[in-house]
Amino acid sequence: MSNTDKDKIIIFDTTLRDGEQSPGATMTFEEKLEVASLLDEMGVDVIEAGFPIASEGDFESVSEIARIVKNASIAGLARASHKDIDRAGAAVKHAVKPRIHTFISTSPVHMKYKLSKTPEEVLEMVISSVMRARTHVDDVEWSAEDGTRTEMDFLCRCVEAAIKAGATTINIPDTVGYTMPDEYRTFITQVIERVPNSDKAIFSAHCHNDLGVAVANSLAGASAGIRQIECTINGLGERAGNAALEEVVMAINTRSDILPFYTDIDTKLLTRASKLVSAVTSFPVQYNKAIVGRNAFAHESGIHQDGMLKNAETYEIMRPDTVGAGKTSLVMGKHSGRAAFQSKLEELGYELADNAFQDAFVRFKELADRKKTVYDEDIEALVDENISTASDRTKVESLLVVAGTTGPQSATLTLNLEGEHKTVQAMGNGPVDAVFNAIHELVPHEARLALYQVHAVTHGTDAQAEVSVRLEDEETGRRATARAADPDTLVASAKAYLAALNNLEIKRERGPLKSQEDLDDAARRSGP
Ligand code: KIV
Ligand code: ZN
Repeated sequence: MSNTDKDKIIIFDTTLRDGEQSPGATMTFEEKLEVASLLDEMGVDVIEAGFPIASEGDFESVSEIARIVKNASIAGLARASHKDIDRAGAAVKHAVKPRIHTFISTSPVHMKYKLSKTPEEVLEMVISSVMRARTHVDDVEWSAEDGTRTEMDFLCRCVEAAIKAGATTINIPDTVGYTMPDEYRTFITQVIERVPNSDKAIFSAHCHNDLGVAVANSLAGASAGIRQIECTINGLGERAGNAALEEVVMAINTRSDILPFYTDIDTKLLTRASKLVSAVTSFPVQYNKAIVGRNAFAHESGIHQDGMLKNAETYEIMRPDTVGAGKTSLVMGKHSGRAAFQSKLEELGYELADNAFQDAFVRFKELADRKKTVYDEDIEALVDENISTASDRTKVESLLVVAGTTGPQSATLTLNLEGEHKTVQAMGNGPVDAVFNAIHELVPHEARLALYQVHAVTHGTDAQAEVSVRLEDEETGRRATARAADPDTLVASAKAYLAALNNLEIKRERGPLKSQEDLDDAARRSGP
């Protein structure tokens, strides 16, 4: 089905308003501008930038967003009072496409306890608020707060009156996240059918996620005639949040076979937006969150990994690059099978013969039983363990270090270089530096020292020192780590440095580490 046969769903993002109402999710002025710019770049149709009457800060950020955003409509929220509406009008007036979003509660429980108003008084306020908003802008949205718990007859009277007064969008929120998809579909169908002028406005869904069905309700609303969905990045929002923008958009995208809609969202920016919002609000994204969670495209079970290596369609309904999430990751752990282990070895540049592979696989499984996550470096270490001891090319023969307060510190080092003995004296900025400089003179290399760590293995001043050294080779992207222990910290340092150099040399011989592009290519080849 091409987009011309489908209806557009207007994406109304309220991360900066309802999202910011999440306890603890406050954003600074600069952060709000950054989020707004990305939402605009992503193709969001309407950005609800804030609630201008709420504070001076909110007013300022809505005004600035209205000034800088070039494509999206900018909405400011207002209660049904002229003061609120005038403030919202002033905040959005510089927008290319300004909108005022005004609301009032229409459910019996809200009207009685929250507003202390009769239905007739509320109806009057609907009319006067929408008319006031129209004095500022042509684009006015009216919301029936707690809409899904409102009596149908009264709701229809309010909607009809709001449209007559000039509202161009009618929003029926499920404010308390109470409704169910079929119920919401029927509810919206009835409102649209019963309100005589319903064809003069666009209907909108604003669903909260208290029962975990905000996205399902929004999509059910779309099948009843809703053409605007209000949502937030990462589903941020009051209490359990709002419908998550990324889920709404990807559901429409992925199931276009049964959802005859489209959005103008550039889905490749979804992951970036999720990360930005998570960073600026300090709200972590649930690991298994749909679309943008870090496990959304990660597979650990051996059966799944095997399927994924044969054809990504076996366990993925969307490709990670569609949402800007990089590549599928096969997480190495105790559930991983031989196929995934083989593929990981290839990715790391190893080609092992059958026996070496079997041996490495057995040791990998033992390690995975002990360790929750097996990182690439763990795998490299367990494969390299055998290779490097078999080919220790360079060894420390003797080391004499002069250190102390007067300096300069020096190291006289003799190495056994594949049978040949060579000695050098080098200076350094401290004894360790002198030792490493001496090694550099005897074994010239370009490796960069990425880590140097000393641990005491036992207690007391005669403790064995355990030194870890990690070296990086920029040209190939290879890294090698090695550890060595000795009662003398400087000897342990020299041994660890040399062992890391040996390991790095072996890795360099295997060629450059596969680039992200290579890996993406491989993933594409195995994809649908
Ligand atoms: O949840 C809600 O009802 C709202 C309105 C202000 C639209 O956020
Ligand atoms: Zn809300």
